[in-house]
Amino acid sequence: MGGAAPSAAATSYLPVAISLLLLLPVRVSAAGRLHPLVVIPGTGTSQIYARLTDDYVPSNGTVCGGANRPAGWFRLWKDKRLLRDPLVQCFTELMAIHYDPALDDYRNTPGVETMVPRFGSVDAFRHRDPDDPKDTPEMAIFLERLEALGYRDGEDLFGAPYDYRYGLAAPGRPSLAGTRFLDGLRALVERAASANGGRPVVILGNSLGGLLAHQLLTRSPPAWRRRFVKHFLAVAVPWGGCVLEMEVFASGISVAGLAPLVLRAEMATYESNLWLLPSPGAFAGRPLAVTPERNYSAMELLQFLSDVGFSEAVRPYQSRILPMIARLDPPGVPVTCVSGTGVPTREMLVYGDGFGRDPEVVLGDGDGTVNMESLVAAEAAWVGVEGQPLTVVKVAKATHGSILLEEETWKVILEQVMSSDDDDADVRSTGLSSAAA
Ligand SMILES: *[C@@H]1O[C@H](CO)[C@@H](O)[C@H](O)[C@H]1NC(C)=O
Ligand SMILES: *[C@@H]1O[C@H](CO)[C@@H](O)[C@H](O)[C@H]1NC(C)=O
Repeated sequence: MGGAAPSAAATSYLPVAISLLLLLPVRVSAAGRLHPLVVIPGTGTSQIYARLTDDYVPSNGTVCGGANRPAGWFRLWKDKRLLRDPLVQCFTELMAIHYDPALDDYRNTPGVETMVPRFGSVDAFRHRDPDDPKDTPEMAIFLERLEALGYRDGEDLFGAPYDYRYGLAAPGRPSLAGTRFLDGLRALVERAASANGGRPVVILGNSLGGLLAHQLLTRSPPAWRRRFVKHFLAVAVPWGGCVLEMEVFASGISVAGLAPLVLRAEMATYESNLWLLPSPGAFAGRPLAVTPERNYSAMELLQFLSDVGFSEAVRPYQSRILPMIARLDPPGVPVTCVSGTGVPTREMLVYGDGFGRDPEVVLGDGDGTVNMESLVAAEAAWVGVEGQPLTVVKVAKATHGSILLEEETWKVILEQVMSSDDDDADVRSTGLSSAAA
């Protein structure tokens, strides 16, 4: 008769035991329960290495030649030693890219070979400057959190670093760097799924990385998206560019403590900076840069580029960028957009004494870098679109840099990367598990 009591006890503990079991897979064998995650970082985050060939002729041989001329591969971005006078003169020359009208594409400075190492690994952008881990540490902290959750680089966590100077061109236009990146990213997503039993991938695109993820999705067939992508987490994505980018061209912005004008001409060569200019769709006809002579809205950027002294950017902006940003097509996979709000953000630049000097700045809403019009452009375009699941999360007072580390962002990520029975059913119904097993 002694058996009755234990049996009753076992019954009453059963619910506890079941709920413990439910927790176990997450806590103990997290790796098996997490969706593969591909992270695409923002601009300036990926490391770029360079090597000089005999074709490289420094414009200032005193500074950039002789003993200062590096032999072999070296880290061009980011190495703070190159961002000081006088070596910064060489940095600007090596980092600049050039639009070639004959090719209708961008190329490096002649004699400068570049590469972005460790494609596929998050270590490629854990630190901007590995010698200075305190420099913009948000990504490193964020990756540590993912790893504490159970993610392992190269197993279920993957990174898609890229040469952020280049962007993408509208489909049909040549884009050597952009096409190579998208092809690599597509293959990486496929590899991430197949390394994890065919489970579809969560793509996290941060800032410019979100624009690239969006282009990958809209340029891929629906069947590919359904098969390989579970969810697109768009974190602080400048869907319609930002006013700050006009300042990049008009008077420069301070990077690494340098005066704004030092890197202005170099940064004005980046195709990505053209892509990030305010889009007509998001900003319409509102004046964004104001001078005594005339005002410039997002619809007058061709004139603006020419008036601020970068007329060579006019043609690529017109032929490569404008057609690409003219539409914001739904990506066709479930999306969550997370962005900060309520942080004072450059909304209008007043150039009272001409370009080339710091403007007076009128502030508006945004995440401190990207304007609200731009952060909400995707929801404006996709809300209510059939077959386009969309969740929007706004985080008060989160900045463009802090958003990755906000509690609300983390919650959204956990919801998507943690497995559920439904997910497993999805995988089974597509037959991917058995295909990959
Ligand atoms: C080269 O750079 C040095 C150091 O900044 C400067 O003094 C010199 O005038 C420059 N020469 C040319 C030709 O630009
Ligand atoms: C430029 O924009 C400012 C601010 O909206 C406005 O006050 C001014 O009248 C405009 N100037 C011209 C020339 O349109």
